[in-house]
Amino acid sequence: MKRKDILGLYELEAEEIDEILSVGMSMKKLLLQNIKRLPHLQGRSVTTLFYENSTRTRSSFELAAKYMGAHVLSISVATSSVQKGETLVDTGKTLDAMRNDVMIIRHPVGGAPRLLAKTVKAHVINAGDGMNEHPSQALLDMLTMQENLGHIAGLKVAIIGDILHSRVAKSNLYGLTKLGASVSMYAPRTLMPTDIDKMGAKVCSSREEAVEGADIVMGLRIQLERQHAGCFPSLGEYAKYYGVNEEIMKYAKPGALVMHPGPVNRGVELTSGLIDGETGRIEEQVLSGIAVRMAMLFLLTKEEVA
Ligand code: CP
Repeated sequence: MKRKDILGLYELEAEEIDEILSVGMSMKKLLLQNIKRLPHLQGRSVTTLFYENSTRTRSSFELAAKYMGAHVLSISVATSSVQKGETLVDTGKTLDAMRNDVMIIRHPVGGAPRLLAKTVKAHVINAGDGMNEHPSQALLDMLTMQENLGHIAGLKVAIIGDILHSRVAKSNLYGLTKLGASVSMYAPRTLMPTDIDKMGAKVCSSREEAVEGADIVMGLRIQLERQHAGCFPSLGEYAKYYGVNEEIMKYAKPGALVMHPGPVNRGVELTSGLIDGETGRIEEQVLSGIAVRMAMLFLLTKEEVA
């Protein structure tokens, strides 16, 4: 990989995505053998800088870096000088002065990782920026699909839920279509971005249409923190009309996989039966997350490793 930063799948070439998935698959095989001591990042320092809450993304980037031998620094924005008014640019410059090799940032404002990347010498990875992109999540989703189904090209993926506020849906759309999958989307009209069809999505007028013949059905978290006005009447109605349940899954291919980026609102976006059932892949997605983040860290820094 030749680029300095990974800011989104919109700008990654298909070959770069393939390379990350291929290395990610090798990393996952090692993790499945419980191998957690690798030399790829020895002598490197990796900092996580999260301006928003996270369980999965932050811990899995940190474990990925530690498993490959990096020094890992976790900046807690709530107790950092950000609270004294320090800007993102100045925080970045400070971390750069400490000779950090990689900065992993999550920020509520779309474009913040790009601003950081322009400011610092360190590699920057976007761990989710506002409603824009969440590239590592889409890559781990794609790794899980490839591992289970053997390929991405030709797959039909249905994404149901709050598409408007979802950076996961957008990164998946860019990545999956670049690798030859088709993506159908269904959401309440208030939660469907205009013109997403121009980005390659098939916008559907019912859940049934979206799920028909799908290999994978992905639910999305309702992002209440990003909704400034009521976009649907109640959680009960959302579950009834926009949730993924056993009845809707009958329209998908037999054995179709059920995925979700997490955290899940059980019984709203997905039924518990689907989350914990045979076709649910949510826990597997979590392990794929460490593997794909190991691949991202390795590929970004490997030219510099002697
Ligand atoms: N999927 C995801 O981004 O989860 P976290 O918010 O827990 O990191």
